Amino acid sequence: MIELIPETYVAPLDLVAIFGRVAPLRVDLGCGDGSFLRELAQRYPGQNFLGMERLVGRVAKACHKAAAPENVRVVNVESSYAVRYLLPEASVETFYLLFPDPWPKRRHRRRRIVRADFLDAIHRALTDDGFFRIATDQLDYFEQICGIARNHSGFAIVDVNASPARTDLPLTKFERRFRELGAPIYRLALRKISPVR
Ligand SMILES: C[S@@+](CC[C@H](N)C(=O)[O-])C[C@H]1O[C@@H](n2cnc3c(N)ncnc32)[C@H](O)[C@@H]1O
Repeated sequence: MIELIPETYVAPLDLVAIFGRVAPLRVDLGCGDGSFLRELAQRYPGQNFLGMERLVGRVAKACHKAAAPENVRVVNVESSYAVRYLLPEASVETFYLLFPDPWPKRRHRRRRIVRADFLDAIHRALTDDGFFRIATDQLDYFEQICGIARNHSGFAIVDVNASPARTDLPLTKFERRFRELGAPIYRLALRKISPVR
C-alpha cells in the first residue's frame, strides 16, 4: 500500500489530489497491519480507503506488503488528531474502529480513544447518514462506548451485537486472534443523523 505523508499536518488533506479522483471514502482508525483495509479496498475498487496508524513499524509493514490496491493510503498519525484536523468536514462515508487499544486498567481508562469529544470529531468528518463501526473484545469498553453514543444527539445506534460469527466485513488480524481464542466480540454501528450537534 502507499504511505501518505501529508504536506502539512495543520491543514485538511486534499483528498482529490491524494487519490486522484472523487470517490466515497472509508477510514480505518488504528489500522495495524492494514490487512482489513487491503481486503476491503479489493472488494470495492470504486471507493477510496485511508488507514491511520500511530506506530511507524506497523505503517511500514502495511506498506511493504505486495499486491496493494491503488485505492488505499496509510498515514502514520494519531487518529484523534487526524479526525479533528486532517479530515475535511463531511468527507468520510464510514469510519472503522476495530479492536482499539483497550486500556483495561482503571487508572489507564482515560487513555481510551472513544470519548464524547472524539464522537464530535467523527460526526463532523462524516457525510450525512455516514457510519461509525466499532468492534472490541472488552465488554466494559463496549458498554462505555454505548453510553457515550446514547448521550450524543448526532448519532443513532443502528446495530449492536455480541456474536463473533456475524459480520459482513473482512476479518482483522486481531479479530482472527480473538476468534481463535473463542473470545466474545462486541460490535456497534452508529449512523450520523443530524448535520450539527
Ligand atoms: C489492538 S490493535 C488493532 C489493529 C487492527 N485494527 C486489528 O483489528 O487488527 C490497535 C491498533 O491501533 C493503533 N492505535 C492505538 N491508538 C491509536 C491512535 N490514537 N491513533 C492511531 N493508531 C492507534 C495501535 O498502534 C494498534 O496498531
